[in-house]
Amino acid sequence: MTAQLDPRGDVAVLVPAAGAGVRLGPGAPKALRLLAGEPLLVHAVRRIAAAPSVHTIVVAAPATEVEAVRAMLAPVAPVTVVPGGAERQASVAAALAAVPAGPEIVLVHDAARALTPPHLVESVAAAVRDGHDAVIPVLPVVDTIKEVDATERVLGTVDRSALRSVQTPQGFRRSVLVAAHRSAGDALTDDAGLVEKQGIAVTCVPGSELALKITRPFDLALAEHLLTTGA
Ligand code: C5P
Repeated sequence: MTAQLDPRGDVAVLVPAAGAGVRLGPGAPKALRLLAGEPLLVHAVRRIAAAPSVHTIVVAAPATEVEAVRAMLAPVAPVTVVPGGAERQASVAAALAAVPAGPEIVLVHDAARALTPPHLVESVAAAVRDGHDAVIPVLPVVDTIKEVDATERVLGTVDRSALRSVQTPQGFRRSVLVAAHRSAGDALTDDAGLVEKQGIAVTCVPGSELALKITRPFDLALAEHLLTTGA
């Protein structure tokens, strides 16, 4: 049976999945690397589709893989697949342009956070629904953080109590994200950064350790282990 999304949902989720994944070593684009026998993107989309508020999913795929990604995701959930861009920001903009009229909440979620639980999608969306323009899931920073110069000499110790490690999905009132992308300048590593530049308040909600970003071979091994223990 093909999965359905709830047509009453008010949330569109954009999934930038067009990155090369150089830090994972040579191989397929990162979102298409296998985790327990399935591409990371399949794991990610399955969990997004399981969140009851989700109405629309748009994936930005590597330009050469659009048809393959469509075929791969067809049994998982109804998704729109568009070609991504050279930078993450361009991939998000391409996906945003493909969102149909309707959803007033837009979440942006990295395919690389393949084990993100559906309840995190819901809690970010709920905070936007409650009136926040921009919402990010965060975790406290556990390591001591040092600032260094170009020669790796320590310049100082940063007060970690005021730092947060930021995950996705990041959630936005649709008009806020559209405006932020329209006036986007330099490429940033997240969408909340664009919104901050507009002077708009960004609100934090508790993140999830399961939303780890699969970046290096160690992360892939950890994610594989988490899946065998029920993630
Ligand atoms: O490179 P980084 O790990 O920050 O990528 C985060 C997410 O953005 C990944 O899911 C990746 O596939 C996506 N991305 C993209 N288009 C790019 C570069 C990255 O969709 N040109």
